[in-house]
Amino acid sequence: MRFAVIGSLGWAGSRHVNALAEMGQDIVALVDPGEGCAAQAVKVGAKALRSFDELDLDTIDAATLALPPHLHPEFTRRLARAGKHVMCEKPIAPDSTEAMALVEFAKTVPVTIMPGYLLRTNPHIRGFLDALRGMGSLRRVHLSTNVRKPSMAGWRSEPVIGGALLVNAIHQMDLATWFVGETLTPRFAQLDNVHFEAPTEDLFFTSLVSPSGVTASILSSWSPNPPICDDGLMITDAGRLRIEAETDEGSIILTGTGYRKNGEDVALPGVVGVNQFIKELEHFIDSIENGTPLWVTVKDNYDVQKLIEDCRAVAIAPAGRVAKRVA
Ligand SMILES: NC(=O)c1ccc[n+]([C@@H]2O[C@H](COP(=O)([O-])OP(=O)(O)OC[C@H]3O[C@@H](n4cnc5c(N)ncnc54)[C@H](O)[C@@H]3O)[C@@H](O)[C@H]2O)c1
Repeated sequence: MRFAVIGSLGWAGSRHVNALAEMGQDIVALVDPGEGCAAQAVKVGAKALRSFDELDLDTIDAATLALPPHLHPEFTRRLARAGKHVMCEKPIAPDSTEAMALVEFAKTVPVTIMPGYLLRTNPHIRGFLDALRGMGSLRRVHLSTNVRKPSMAGWRSEPVIGGALLVNAIHQMDLATWFVGETLTPRFAQLDNVHFEAPTEDLFFTSLVSPSGVTASILSSWSPNPPICDDGLMITDAGRLRIEAETDEGSIILTGTGYRKNGEDVALPGVVGVNQFIKELEHFIDSIENGTPLWVTVKDNYDVQKLIEDCRAVAIAPAGRVAKRVA
């Protein structure tokens, strides 16, 4: 399949490039105004372009987008209207209003539009969820990420598009809605600056409930000194996702190799060191070529973006308040 990667030099975009190259896909063009795009393109036999407007849409079948989120909707629309499939990093819109507009838009175009919630396609998480679903009714789930950050800089700490909630907890929100399978409502939410003076929060914490009474709590923390432990799944270069759940039939936690169900370790084959971006793109291509229903949809993205706004609305402290500063 012929691909373009838009935002190819960024954290996520460069991983799209490497994954597509490793998969042997035809990377036609890399689009990024940053220094280094030409050198990156030479390595994978692609054209380097400084802007989306330079991209000849007739030369590609699909594109991935990994940009500051406010740029995602316009490029998604332009690609889809030209009949190109789109894998767009999360969040696919800057807010729930634009996310809902994309839900409606996606119904009108005969192409695949897949939001990049890569944990949904990760075999480690899917194996964990299979086990959880075999354990009777879910009562409580807790999902936490601890990301090591020496400082807060760049767009990730900018208001509206940055912060621990939108950049990291968004994945946990998605997992919580997927695992619980019901609408979640925040009982409370906390957005605070525990470590850094920054315009956005470095800590997000919420407790959510479903209509049937399932509780999902989520903690997402950016810290120079995150707690170190062996259980969980590495999702950033220096962070960890941990999940624990209680059901009618016991408890389960995510481990580095699989899960621990009622105290007994179960290893999942082929999950350690898996390239999540390859798994995500394999599913995207499978959906395009074979019509496999998407494991994550534009509507799933809307649900998460709406939940994020619900949490902001009930937050007990506004983002930006500085509690303490690390020297
Ligand atoms: N799935 C994940 O685990 C994951 C992880 C990190 C980021 N993301 C998401 O990926 C997206 C990008 O995040 P990032 O961390 O890679 O950001 P980044 O700042 O590292 O990269 C963004 C890139 O986009 C380029 N760019 C900016 N404007 C452009 C334009 N008009 N045309 C082409 N290129 C342009 C920049 O030069 C930069 O190289 C965000 O939506 C983010 O939430 C997802």
